[in-house]
This record gives sequence, C-alpha cells and structure tokens, in this order.
Amino acid sequence: MATIITIDGPSGAGKGTVSRGLANKLGFHYLDSGALYRLLGLAAQRHRVGLDSDNALSMLAAHMDIGFKTLDDGSLKILLEGEDVSQELRTENTGALASQVAAHPEVRTALFDRQRQFAKAPGLIADGRDMGTVVFPEAPLKIYLTASIEERAQRRYKELLDKGENVSLRALEEQVRSRDERDMNRDVSPLLPAEDAIELDTSELSIQEVMDTVLNLVYLKGLVKVIDQ
Ligand code: DC
Repeated sequence: MATIITIDGPSGAGKGTVSRGLANKLGFHYLDSGALYRLLGLAAQRHRVGLDSDNALSMLAAHMDIGFKTLDDGSLKILLEGEDVSQELRTENTGALASQVAAHPEVRTALFDRQRQFAKAPGLIADGRDMGTVVFPEAPLKIYLTASIEERAQRRYKELLDKGENVSLRALEEQVRSRDERDMNRDVSPLLPAEDAIELDTSELSIQEVMDTVLNLVYLKGLVKVIDQ
C-alpha cells in the first residue's frame, strides 16, 4: 500500500523543489505530473499535432513513449522517444504548450491512469494542479502551496539568470499571470485547493521552512515514523 501526499499549486510556488526534497527524505516515489503535460506538449509539437485536436492529443497522451530515470546524483532525466528532453522540458515555451494541452478533458482522462500508476509502496509525493482534487482524492495529506505572482516571477527570474539566460522580469510576471489565468479558469480540473487541503503561502518562507512544515504534518498525521532531521 502506498501512502500518498499531494502537493498542488500554481507554477513557481515551490512545489517541485519541495516535493523532490520530501520524496528524498521519506524514501517515497515522486510524480511530477506537470512533466507529463509538458512531454505531451513537446510530443504534439514534434508530431505536428494541433493544440486543439483533442482526439489526436488524447491518443498521443495514452501512447507517447516516455521514461523517467533517476541518476546516481539524485537528479531526474526525462526521456521522450528515447531522447533526453530534461532541459527542453523546463523552458517557458514548453510550459505554455503544456498549459494549452492540459485544458482538454480528453487529454486529462488519457493521462489519469498513467498518473495513478506512480502510486507504489512505500509512498508517493504527487506534484501538480489536481493531485488532491481529481487524481488522488483519497490522499490522507493534501498540501496547497501558493505565493504571490511577484514572488513567483522573481524566483523564475533568478533561476533563468543563474542559467545565463537574459530575460525581463516584467515579461515573466505576464507569463505567470497568463498561465495562472488559463490553469485556474479551465472547465475541467481547474487549479484549486481540495476542500481538505492545507494551504501554505510560501512567499516569505525558505524551501527548508516549507519542507519542515510539511514533514511535521506528515509526522503529526502518523503517516510515517519520525525520521531524524
Ligand atoms: O507544474 P508545471 O509548471 O510543470 O505544469 C505545466 C502545465 O501543465 C501547467 O501550466 C498546467 C498543466 N498541469 C495540469 O494541468 N495539471 C497538473 N496536474 C500538472 C500540470
């Protein structure tokens, strides 16, 4: 039996870093559901499938050849048709493609089973937008991470500068705003906290503080035995 912990929230709220850290600490598996939508966006672009062709997109979602490999240094390598696309997957362009394919109900249905298959013992940290509301509604602990748009754009700005990319903070804020808008207002599985989710605003918190808060909740709920910090 797998213990499932869901971490949902908008882009840039810190879900990825916190989820990977928690999975590492607890020895749990990790589902980066956004990566599935990003992979589908890339696959659609490569196979010239239109972003509004719901049937073709859902076929691609069910059958695309993808792989996740954890390397010895703990980093994750993501493959599409055997090719390492880990870098390309993280770009703003791929994020925007993902957000568009994710708005199709047929696509979400096609990816549902693929996501549920990640639930394996001893447990899973499931990171996304609808992990607690739709994909794993039975999860005993659901976290909803938020942060202000300005803070999220600022984090992304720093990340890109560190990679040597020249970007405008204003343009990033606009991108964050329009992705939020699309993710929160779509008809199916819009981004919103599950009724039983615990909300955490990370604007003023460090990654370590967020991780400690979630770990305390995990222990309080008796989901795992206390691990030495
Ligand atoms: O978490 P991310 O930035 O990698 O997600 C990319 C896009 O995928 C996001 O804008 C919306 C979509 N997505 C979704 O609709 N449902 C999920 N569970 C995860 C991501």
